Amino acid sequence: MMNVRAGITALGAYAPPKVVTNEDLEKIMDTSDEWIRTRTGIRRRHVAGDDEFTSDMAFRSVEDLVRRYGEEALEGVDLVIVATNTPDALFPATASLVQHRFGLHAGAFDLLAACPGWLYAVSAAKAYVESGQSKKVLAIGAEALTKLINWEDRSTAVLFGDGAGAVIIEPVEEPYGIAPMVLGSDGAGGGLLHAGAIGRCLPDGTNLTDKLFMNGREVYKFAVRVMDTATLEAIEKAGLVPDDIELFVPHQANLRIIDAARERLGLAPERVVVTVDEYGNNSTASIPLAMTHALDEGRMKDGDRILLVSFGGGLSWAAGVLTWGGGRYPNRVQAG
Ligand code: UT7
Repeated sequence: MMNVRAGITALGAYAPPKVVTNEDLEKIMDTSDEWIRTRTGIRRRHVAGDDEFTSDMAFRSVEDLVRRYGEEALEGVDLVIVATNTPDALFPATASLVQHRFGLHAGAFDLLAACPGWLYAVSAAKAYVESGQSKKVLAIGAEALTKLINWEDRSTAVLFGDGAGAVIIEPVEEPYGIAPMVLGSDGAGGGLLHAGAIGRCLPDGTNLTDKLFMNGREVYKFAVRVMDTATLEAIEKAGLVPDDIELFVPHQANLRIIDAARERLGLAPERVVVTVDEYGNNSTASIPLAMTHALDEGRMKDGDRILLVSFGGGLSWAAGVLTWGGGRYPNRVQAG
């Protein structure tokens, strides 16, 4: 039997038109553009409208994908996975809403794994495709995280944004495709970053909250550490060395965390995709949105080895190397 390798063959993304700048935030809380820029690299963030929810943004990202590659990109999709921490409701799954909206004959489920959720969805899709269970998976990261923000808490309110990114995952020929991925979790750190609780304490007594809570300093230390270890592990699993990486697309949480990882890997700045300045941290949407930007800028070339890594609540992390290309949709265009 021939080995099947799963790859990403189409991409699309969406960010809400509503933009909140650092200067806007200065007017409603005790913060400054200077503090936000120097600590995080964020200048603006895109925020969902009052009547705009995760499913709406997921739909828009799929519409963008269809605009770029044509309807044929959705033909034969037999599984939809939506990675999100902010589904419209616990059920129906946001993925079911996507399945119905695009008339797909497909199974559908949501996947919740904090910010690395989209990379977890990619790894799940890879396993479904490579086992023969699925032929074509639509894997989306969509987030309305600003609806969980405590606007009284300046230490988190300035960091987050909303958006969505969608990809098609299906068989490709080697050398293209996704190498074995790294998935990790350390539930001992569950109290450091949480949201959406329904009245529950952790075993250590930490009160889980409804609105987003983060111990920024501790999460920062974890992030720098895990960006280092997870990326090196993913590169090794791909049978490569850091110098083989043409493009680095990390989770967009903080420019300082991205820079630290880039330096440890010895990559030149032009090999790193940074969008956190424009979008803030939009969680599961951050990597597919950044990849779509990189594609539009001509920075993802056929055969490029692209390193993806993310981290977040749980604590959790994920990383993998994608060899870009092998797609079969000739009419790719930049979406307007
Ligand atoms: O995808 C989820 C993953 N999350 C992350 O990646 C976040 C990781 N953590 C971070 O990125 C950083 O820890 C932050 C950007 C959240 C904070 O930066 P920091 O350098 O760790 O600042 P800090 O929390 O140590 O706070 C320093 C000071 C404090 O004042 P004092 O106690 O030194 O007087 C804060 O009260 O900055 C103050 N501060 C602010 N000042 C102005 C906190 N938030 C703000 C703010 N504006 N928005």
